[in-house]
Amino acid sequence: MAAKHIILDTDPGIDDALAILLAAASPEIRLEGVTTVHGNASTERTTRNALAALELAGLTHVPVFKGCHAPLVKEPLLSPETHGTTGLGYAQLAEPLIQPQAGHGSDFLIEQIMARPGEVTLVAIGPLTNVALAIRKEPRIVQNVKEVFIMGGAILHPGNTTAQAEYNTFVDPHAAHIVFHSGMPMILTPLDVTYQCIFTKDDLNRLLNIASPITKFIADSTRFYMEFHDEYQSIDGCVINDPMTLALTFMPEICDYQNLVVDVDISTGVGLGNTFADFYNYEKKPKNMKVAMGVRPRIFMELFLERMEKLARRIS
Ligand code: BDR
Ligand code: CA
Repeated sequence: MAAKHIILDTDPGIDDALAILLAAASPEIRLEGVTTVHGNASTERTTRNALAALELAGLTHVPVFKGCHAPLVKEPLLSPETHGTTGLGYAQLAEPLIQPQAGHGSDFLIEQIMARPGEVTLVAIGPLTNVALAIRKEPRIVQNVKEVFIMGGAILHPGNTTAQAEYNTFVDPHAAHIVFHSGMPMILTPLDVTYQCIFTKDDLNRLLNIASPITKFIADSTRFYMEFHDEYQSIDGCVINDPMTLALTFMPEICDYQNLVVDVDISTGVGLGNTFADFYNYEKKPKNMKVAMGVRPRIFMELFLERMEKLARRIS
């Protein structure tokens, strides 16, 4: 199978950085570019972190474009309690030598999708601001993108930011609304599946059998992430949402899917950012996305661990 042309729209972020490492270790993926967005940290920080993670993974040839600094309507909401003030927990990556490209992330998305109609897979693992902006600037990307994998939402699972809202949809619900209603072919990875896959201390210890900057980074970043999960959610380990979303691009059998009508709440009440699916389709609307609702956790975790071991052996 030919490698997929992938653009990663991301807000690194510990699990975002792990997704970059997974991309580096996955021959099924040809990473055409990275666009950064506000979210887990400021866009300045997420851009720096994306560059540093790419450098760590040996992907210095991948162009990085800075995207939106703030949500479309709301104020930014960073997540230092989850990802640390730098966005990468306790990890300290060297100041990257590679620099972002000139130009805005949303324009890079448009340019790439329109240049290769039907060939570009977009993987959006942060708030959807860049993607929504790109749709508004060039609506034809909707017909020309191959598919969009989105990490976001909590369908039947509790939220991780408010009682029912997941972080990416809560931070920019208006962008999520534009994207969800765009007509793009979408595959959603909500908390319903990501929370079934816990990266444990045993998993980490397995990786630490290989001495490498890769395993050191994973240990230093996830130690912080595990402390957050323990303190806030009594979870022993951590949930690595973003690499799972990326993995579905080449190993869809990790999950079971339902075609659903999914919407996001943009009213100003307590439900802001909540995602919900009309399972019985009471409103008779066309299904707008494929949603991962079931998962085989160990298949994903084994894939992730094997790929990280492979990368760690390569970069030691
Ligand atoms: C999502 O929010 C961020 O904290 C993570 O990077 C992930 O993309 C999970 O809700
Ligand atoms: Ca993210």
